[in-house]
Amino acid sequence: MRSLSGIQPSGTLHIGNYFGAIKQFIENQDKYEGFYFVADYHALTSHPKAENLTNNTYNVILDYLALGLDPAKSTIFLQSDIPEHTELTWFLTNVTPVALLERAHSYKDKVSKGIPANHGLFTYPVLMAADILMYDPDIVPVGKDQKQHVEIARDIATKFNNTYSEIFKLPEAQIMESVAVVPGTDGQKMSKSYHNTIEMFASKKQLKKQVMGIVTDSTPLEEAKNPDTCNVFALYKLFASKEKQEEMRKNYLAGGYGYGHAKKELLNAILEYFAPYREKREELANNMDYVKQVLADGAKKARTIAIEKIKTIKKELGLVGNVY
Ligand code: ADP
Ligand code: TRP
Repeated sequence: MRSLSGIQPSGTLHIGNYFGAIKQFIENQDKYEGFYFVADYHALTSHPKAENLTNNTYNVILDYLALGLDPAKSTIFLQSDIPEHTELTWFLTNVTPVALLERAHSYKDKVSKGIPANHGLFTYPVLMAADILMYDPDIVPVGKDQKQHVEIARDIATKFNNTYSEIFKLPEAQIMESVAVVPGTDGQKMSKSYHNTIEMFASKKQLKKQVMGIVTDSTPLEEAKNPDTCNVFALYKLFASKEKQEEMRKNYLAGGYGYGHAKKELLNAILEYFAPYREKREELANNMDYVKQVLADGAKKARTIAIEKIKTIKKELGLVGNVY
């Protein structure tokens, strides 16, 4: 059984990416054959500066490795190292109804926010379908916002299988319902594009600024507060044991306990949780030759599979192949 997923290097990763996606990648490692990549072609839809794209790409890989993705167990690679992903995208576009793409929430949201509707943004789900279908995974661990994209991949696979023959396995999205949407510091979904993130590996000073900036209501310190509507408490629950959560809940309900106190406890919980990974990340960042080797090995393994898949599809389509 295979598990596959990717993350765009469109900024610095945050605790929403961790609890929504990466934590599942790591937990799946002993149960599934894993394929985890950096979706750098997808990031081009927002025109990053070359230097930022390069840095963000290495940062995502460092995060993956520091948090526990293990190249001995999983294939870790860059999307752009496997050009067959774009080749498969073209094959898939020809069975993809325009109306299916027009229904994509993420495309509609971006356009409604004034992002120009270029063809890359529109075709984004087809490239994502190619990323997935290339490797026939059983599950695709993602946060809830990506569920529709996985469903689109299934729809495209079904269309292709019906038009030609059973080439693709239908994947299932794997979503951790308990942390389906991690809230950002403003209470909306935490996202690199909303400037509301808490970054796992920000400097301690920066992290403090992010946590202290979490929006709360204006209930005075001495009054009782509702933990279940508070962003600070929602985030604390991701890190604290059941006992610790109960303790904070009681403090909220008792009054005399301010949001500032809760934020300090949250900050300490975050620092403590990520401390060992932070250390590992620093070690890896000082050993980029190793990191690049991991990517080269991963690309080799992934590409072998991709080339076989493309060969099968070309034959099915009647394309005369002379290269592979
Ligand atoms: P962002 O919105 O920050 O740009 P991405 O779209 O790159 O994040 O998401 C990478 C992965 O992290 C996806 O699987 C996505 O569903 C998950 N993810 C992102 N933000 C959150 C969140 N706030 N809560 C849960 N999962 C999230
Ligand atoms: N679209 C995903 C995101 O923004 C990233 C992604 C690209 C992906 N290709 C994928 C996720 C394939 C899972 C499988 O988070």
